[in-house]
Amino acid sequence: MFSSDKNVQDSCIYVAQSRPVNNLEKDVRCGLLARPRCLPPKYFYDETGSRLFDQICDTEEYYPTRTEAALLRQFSAELIDASSPQHILEFGSGSSRKTRHLLSACERLGVACEYLPFDVCEEMLLQVSQEFNQDYSWLDVKLLIGDYTAGLDYLHQPSGTCMYVFLGSSIGNFSVAEARAFIKEIRRCMKPGDSLLLGVDRIKDHDVLHAAYNDAAGITQEFNLNMLQVLNEKLQANFDQRKFRHEASYNSVDQRIEMYLVSEECHTVHLKSMDEQIHFLEEEKILTEISHKYSKQGVEDLLTDSGLHILKHIEAENAYFSLVLGRL
Ligand code: SAH
Ligand code: AVI
Repeated sequence: MFSSDKNVQDSCIYVAQSRPVNNLEKDVRCGLLARPRCLPPKYFYDETGSRLFDQICDTEEYYPTRTEAALLRQFSAELIDASSPQHILEFGSGSSRKTRHLLSACERLGVACEYLPFDVCEEMLLQVSQEFNQDYSWLDVKLLIGDYTAGLDYLHQPSGTCMYVFLGSSIGNFSVAEARAFIKEIRRCMKPGDSLLLGVDRIKDHDVLHAAYNDAAGITQEFNLNMLQVLNEKLQANFDQRKFRHEASYNSVDQRIEMYLVSEECHTVHLKSMDEQIHFLEEEKILTEISHKYSKQGVEDLLTDSGLHILKHIEAENAYFSLVLGRL
């Protein structure tokens, strides 16, 4: 999957951090060696994890992707028309599958633009760049590689009108306070005329939410357990996936899915490169992800509290998902 194409490599920008963020060792020290145990979800996304996420998107139970894709298919022309972007900068772009609807709308409307996917998974970005160079010969693609939680002060600032895009309800992987802070950071990058398109998952029937994070084929389980493999590779650790189980449940008080890895027995894991060990108790949990769900008002508050005004709020008919377009 990794590309050695010089043109592709030339279009990569490593986004410098404007705020110190923990490296993996520090996150492990603060999150795994301490209690309650937790790790940031960005560690899911090595090449395998990114592929597993795409497989989750294709499961019957994981409604967010197909719901958002249907909205984008139907409304992209309207969204592009309202934004007239010369640049589309997408946070956490992954395989950029749904973004194709926006780009096809640009093509149909004769809006020439540059695409800047920003992701922590370099392998995925390189693959997208190859695919998009083939499928959209008219499109300039510039890859932004980095961690969007590390501040946006040094984010490549396009000179023309920019549509910032954050799809898939990845905003839900932040706490509500962090989500607001992140949208304020995006707002600080915006010039008059720029817009933000945000995809947000909505509060709904708890059984539907539960099923979405507990698919019958066990792909979400594999995705969650893959984080242990990432630790094994990066820290020369010896996590045994068979000693942990996947658990995901809806916390209706905090309105979020909480995803855990639960130790099924009392055991010790060694982290060779850190010269540390972790003693897990039976049933001890590691929080690997939260996925916050929003009310309609909550979605709008995310934007308006950050000083953006809402140009469009497009909802799925079943109110499962919102696409909201904001302006300065
Ligand atoms: N937007 C796509 C992919 C969502 S999966 C969709 O809607 O289907 C989440 C994506 O965000 C992954 O590609 C992951 O690599 C990326 N990601 C997660 N945390 C990140 C971070 N802190 N900085 C940059 N990218 C991140
Ligand atoms: C990327 N993110 C929005 C997904 C979510 O639904 O929170 C990640 C995911 N985790 C389990 N399934 C999907």
